[in-house]
Amino acid sequence: MRVARAGIDIGGAAVFPEHRILVTQPSDGVYKAFSAVCTHQGCAVTDVDGDVVKCPCHGSKFRLTDGSVAKGPAQRPLPERAVMVDGNTLIVS
Ligand code: FES
Repeated sequence: MRVARAGIDIGGAAVFPEHRILVTQPSDGVYKAFSAVCTHQGCAVTDVDGDVVKCPCHGSKFRLTDGSVAKGPAQRPLPERAVMVDGNTLIVS
């Protein structure tokens, strides 16, 4: 799938609910993509807050840099997805 790079700030992230993915830009021009499905009980993570994304269901937090758990109850990281830069868009597979 393709998503626009616009709106993904350096050090920030954007959630694309229609694709169930989270895309982050940990440093300038370096993008990472993760499943946006919480590894606790499958809710969609939605809220980017500082350097984490939060799950609204039970409060798990995941780090934007690597998808790892910053706060439970989730125990496992968000699975990483492959991402490639293609002009103004990103291709996530
Ligand atoms: S489903 Fe995300 S914290 Fe429970």
